[in-house]
Amino acid sequence: MTTGKSVQERGEWSSKVGFILAAAGSAIGLGNIWRFPYTAGEHGGAAFLFLYLICIALLGLPIMIAELALGRYRHRNAVGAFEAIKPGSAWKLVGFLGVITGICIWSFYSVIAGYTVGFIGKTLIGNTLSYEAFASNPWISIPLTAFFIFLTVIVVQGGVRNGIERWAKILMPILFLLMVVLIIRSVTMKGAGAGLVFYLKPDLTKITGKTVLAALGQAFFSLSLGMGCMITYGSYLSKKDNLITSGCFVAFFDTLIAVMAGFLIFPALFAQGMEAQRHDPGLLFKVLPQIFSQIPGGNLVGASFFLLLAIAALTSTISLLEVVTAYLVDEKHWLRRRAVWITAAVTFLLALPSAMSQEGMVPALGQLPLINMSFLGLMNWTFGNITLAIGALLTSIFFGWIWKSSISHAELSEGCPWYRPIAPVLSFLLKFFCPLTILVVLIFFLYNTIK
Ligand code: PHE
Repeated sequence: MTTGKSVQERGEWSSKVGFILAAAGSAIGLGNIWRFPYTAGEHGGAAFLFLYLICIALLGLPIMIAELALGRYRHRNAVGAFEAIKPGSAWKLVGFLGVITGICIWSFYSVIAGYTVGFIGKTLIGNTLSYEAFASNPWISIPLTAFFIFLTVIVVQGGVRNGIERWAKILMPILFLLMVVLIIRSVTMKGAGAGLVFYLKPDLTKITGKTVLAALGQAFFSLSLGMGCMITYGSYLSKKDNLITSGCFVAFFDTLIAVMAGFLIFPALFAQGMEAQRHDPGLLFKVLPQIFSQIPGGNLVGASFFLLLAIAALTSTISLLEVVTAYLVDEKHWLRRRAVWITAAVTFLLALPSAMSQEGMVPALGQLPLINMSFLGLMNWTFGNITLAIGALLTSIFFGWIWKSSISHAELSEGCPWYRPIAPVLSFLLKFFCPLTILVVLIFFLYNTIK
């Protein structure tokens, strides 16, 4: 067991803004722009949006604050944070589950991030290869996946992540503005109204246990929760920082971008009469070119959009790799370089079947027996929803019941002068509401699956 490095050795965020940017960088990514729309499309549109927003406010936000506090308390990584509070117990396995989840998410995420990179060039030169032909070609998709994994490694290993985050500060507002422009084009297409109705008029009778689990999982995935990422990022915070305002900022911007992505995709989707494809992981890559083709300078605008999206994805994969690396370096005393490269090699091998499962490249992987999902779909469902929900459940139980409340409250009130009045609300949510809700949703899902 180790007590971890001192705060000085590990480093802290240079400023509060630095942390918010890094955490927002982790949160905002393909989860908002690629995963949110097609998951909402699969689960009824507006009803899903409604559930998603509730999950963000009542589950995501409190768990985000809990993770930040757990990480900052002893400035430890995802595994070490549990060990610092309950030494020698099995609780560190929660952190360990997070490390495994991090690798698995990174693997399929890199496949899609690779498409994003490919679409930069494809859109710029006006290449007309269809999404299906693009994603089913192993000579395109596998090297792009490898490239994206490599890019993440270079950034994390080379210590240039500060540089990336500084760039992100300038580039992400541009992505935001570009989205606004594209949304205007999308909602003004002929026939866009049906898309808006789908996205905004909930049919609550369509909600099933699976919808709730998908919304809950999407909330955790999008906020990078349930796998120790915010614990790791919180470990670089100083006691002067206000965890609660920081958490609120991150959750607000992350949610804003996801909601905007819906306004970008659904109107154009329905306007093009493509609504049957609304639950397709290729949704984003099929709909956006339609929008770009209807604006002046569409190739350039489109290429810029994919470039910015790739950078948003990179700031998320950096955080996924960081969780694994911080664990291997702090707890297992590996050299940083070794930790990063070995993790990347494992991730690449794991990414291969995901890449090969798309658009009929290897039909057996595209439609796994019994479960009727592609390999990528299975990874996405298991590690993007289930293990994150389990991780979030255990984190809230640990925070609410295992961590001495006088200490957890003291941690939260550091840097937050107005903590007292909200303490009971946060306590209630973390002790009762979060664990019970997640547990009920998981049990309900399990019951329905084996039934
Ligand atoms: N939140 C990221 C996104 O929305 C994905 C992610 C999940 C990153 C979990 C880190 C941990 O793209």
